[in-house]
Amino acid sequence: MQLIHPERLPTSPEELAAGLRLAALKPPGRPYLGLNMVSSLDGKATIDWRTKGLSSELDRRLFHNLRTQVDAVMVGAGTLRQERYGRVIKNEELRQKRVQEGLAPDPLAVIVSARLDLPADLPLLNEPEQRVVIATGSDATLPGLGAQVEYVRVGDDLPRLMAYLTEAHGIRTVLCEGGPTLNSYLFAALLVDELFLTLSPKLVGGAAALTIVAARELVDPAELELVTVAEGEGELFTRWRVRHAS
Ligand SMILES: NC(=O)c1ccc[n+]([C@@H]2O[C@H](COP(=O)([O-])OP(=O)(O)OC[C@H]3O[C@@H](n4cnc5c(N)ncnc54)[C@H](OP(=O)(O)O)[C@@H]3O)[C@@H](O)[C@H]2O)c1
Repeated sequence: MQLIHPERLPTSPEELAAGLRLAALKPPGRPYLGLNMVSSLDGKATIDWRTKGLSSELDRRLFHNLRTQVDAVMVGAGTLRQERYGRVIKNEELRQKRVQEGLAPDPLAVIVSARLDLPADLPLLNEPEQRVVIATGSDATLPGLGAQVEYVRVGDDLPRLMAYLTEAHGIRTVLCEGGPTLNSYLFAALLVDELFLTLSPKLVGGAAALTIVAARELVDPAELELVTVAEGEGELFTRWRVRHAS
């Protein structure tokens, strides 16, 4: 893997996702939020409703290493209904990397589901070591979960959720892993600070597959500036910072 912008250097997924010190960028009253997505060259986020066909071995390494850089990892219910999520940090080596970065061994998992329509047997919801916040508009609870689960009844109010995560849990940084619907609401609420986007050299086509930011239309297009680009095995690994009007 080669870094090709802002300079040319050999690199690796582990190096691209190390020492990012995102907490230093935390804005007042809410966490700093990075989004991590993979897309085809035509911007599609899925092949046959799954990410699998787009994600390569290098992308998966980057995906897991980015999780070592933040206090919390967030995901939308649609993604959880489609992808089998387990404990966020998958092995001891990655937990050690987090500790060396000054973070807790496991990040807080944050799930967003307005209707609380989640599979109760999802491994993520049943790992005893995993702390999970479920942000929901429902008054219900899911039966018999094995993880350490807290319900936060914020409805669809994402700014309130973000403020709560900082106030109640001291969360300074969040990595959101989609999906496209949640992404659109986060962008609309001006809560996204940066985007890690892997460009997989494929075209998916058609109108059905969601692009990486779908559902809600943005009143003004989000504007981003390029931070880094790396190339590996024909894929581009990009990092962008969102310009916020000051
Ligand atoms: N390419 C990639 O990097 C990538 C990443 C992630 C996912 N994906 C793919 O994307 C697809 C899923 O996309 P999606 O857009 O349907 O899923 P999503 O964004 O993960 O989830 C949508 C659901 O999240 C909840 N939600 C979103 N915004 C909310 C808000 N403001 N307040 C409360 N709840 C909110 C709602 O849950 P309820 O319906 O439960 O109320 C909504 O139906 C899957 O096929 C997955 O494989 C791809």
